[in-house]
Amino acid sequence: MEWVTRKGCGSFTKRLETMTYTGKRILLGVSGGIAAYKAAELARRLVSSGAQVKVVMTQAAQEFVAPLTFQALTGEKVAAAMFGPGSEPLEHVALGQQVAAIVLAPATANLLGKMAAGIGDDLLTTILLAANKPILVCPAMNCEMWAHAAVQENVARLRARGLTVLPPEAGELACGATGYGRLPEVETILEALARLVSPQDLAGRKILVTAGPTHEDLDPVRFLTNRSSGKQGYALARVAWRRGGEVCLISGPTLLPVPYGVERVEVRSAREMLNAVLDRFPQADALLMAAAVGDYHPTSCAGHKMKRGAPELTVHLTQNPDILKEVARLKKQQVVVGFAAETRDLEAAARRKLEDKGLDLIVANEVNRPDSGFAVNTNEVTIIGRGQLPTRLPLLSKEEVAEKVLDQVAALLPAAHKSKGV
Ligand code: CTP
Repeated sequence: MEWVTRKGCGSFTKRLETMTYTGKRILLGVSGGIAAYKAAELARRLVSSGAQVKVVMTQAAQEFVAPLTFQALTGEKVAAAMFGPGSEPLEHVALGQQVAAIVLAPATANLLGKMAAGIGDDLLTTILLAANKPILVCPAMNCEMWAHAAVQENVARLRARGLTVLPPEAGELACGATGYGRLPEVETILEALARLVSPQDLAGRKILVTAGPTHEDLDPVRFLTNRSSGKQGYALARVAWRRGGEVCLISGPTLLPVPYGVERVEVRSAREMLNAVLDRFPQADALLMAAAVGDYHPTSCAGHKMKRGAPELTVHLTQNPDILKEVARLKKQQVVVGFAAETRDLEAAARRKLEDKGLDLIVANEVNRPDSGFAVNTNEVTIIGRGQLPTRLPLLSKEEVAEKVLDQVAALLPAAHKSKGV
C-alpha cells in the first residue's frame, strides 16, 4: 500500500477562524530570553482572535522588550512587580485564577527550574503557584541548555503535574548555534493553546476524518480528479483535535499543511483511501467522510505516457468502491457522517444518501455558488440526521461549520463508551 503518515507539528500560517478565543481572558507570561520579542506577535494575534490578554513580565523580560510594547498591543497595563508603585495587592493570586488559560512564551530555563522547584520569588512565579487554570509552557533557549539534564528533568516534572509543554523547534538560534531551542511559530502556539481553552467534549475519542480529492491515474503523468481543496475536512480535523479528540486525517492530495496534533495519512486513489479507512475504522469512535471521492477510475492505467494519436480518445472507466457504504456495514459504536456536495435538489439528494449509505448524519452543501463549497474558506451547509428536522446553517467559515457538525457528532457519541486502546 502506498500511503504515507505524517504528524502535524505546526508551521502553518492560517489564522484561527473560529470563536475559540472570543471573549476569553488569557494570561501571557513573558520571561527573559531573546524570544521575548516574538511574544509581542503572540499577544497581537491573540487580541486579533478576540482574546483579552493580560501580560505579566519578569524583570529580565523587560531588558529585552519594553512593557509599553505589550501595553500598546493588548490595551492593558502590564503586570511586572509584586511590590511598589503600580502593583496590586492580590494580583499574585487573582491573575492566575481569573483567566481561561496561561501561556508562558518564552519560558527560560530559569523559569522552568523555578516552576519545577515551586519557587515564587517574583510576580510571575508567584502567580503560577496560585494558578488553577491550564498552563501552556513554551520553552526557548540555547540548544545545550535545552538538552541539559536538569532542564529535561524539570520539563518532565512539569508534564507530570499536568502542564502542557510545547517543545522548542529546531533551527538557527540567536546565539549562532543550530539545534532545538527556537520558540515555536506563533500559529503553533495558538493551536496548542486552543485545545486548552476549548470544551473537551471529544476527549478520549478517536476521530477519523477524510478530506480532499482523489487522483485516479490514466498514465504516469495524467489523472482524473475533482475540484475539492480539502479545506472542510482539514477544518474538521483541526477542530476535533482542539476539542480533545485523537484525530487521524486520511487525505487525498492537497496543498494543505498537516493540522497541529493530527496524524495525517496521505493517499491518492479512492481504493487507497478505502484501505486506509478500513484499517482504522474498527478503533474509531466517529468517521467524518468529507473527502470528494472519485466515483470512477480508468479501467487500465498506461505504464508509459500516452502519446497523442487519433483526434478522439475513448477512456474506459470502472466504478470505485463506495467507501461509506462499505464501512457503514461494519459499523458498531461508530458515528458515521457523510457529506453531499450537490448542484440541485440539495436536501432530497442528501436524505437519499443518508438512507442509502446507512449514515447517522449527512452534511449537504450546494457547490454551485462562489462563496460556498470547493476551494473557498466559507461554506453554507444543512446538517441532516435521522428522524430530525434539518439544521440549516448560514454562510460560515469552514471551521465554524466544523464546530456545528462536531456538536452533533458529540451528542450522538455513546456517553459510557470508552475508546479501545491505541
Ligand atoms: N463517498 C464514498 N465513496 C465514494 C463516493 C463518495 O465514500 N466512492 C462518500 C463521500 O465522501 C461523501 C458521500 O459519500 O461523504 C457522498 O458523496 P457524493 O459524491 O456526494 O455522492 P455519491 O455517492 O458519489 O453520489 P453522486 O456522485 O451520484 O451524487
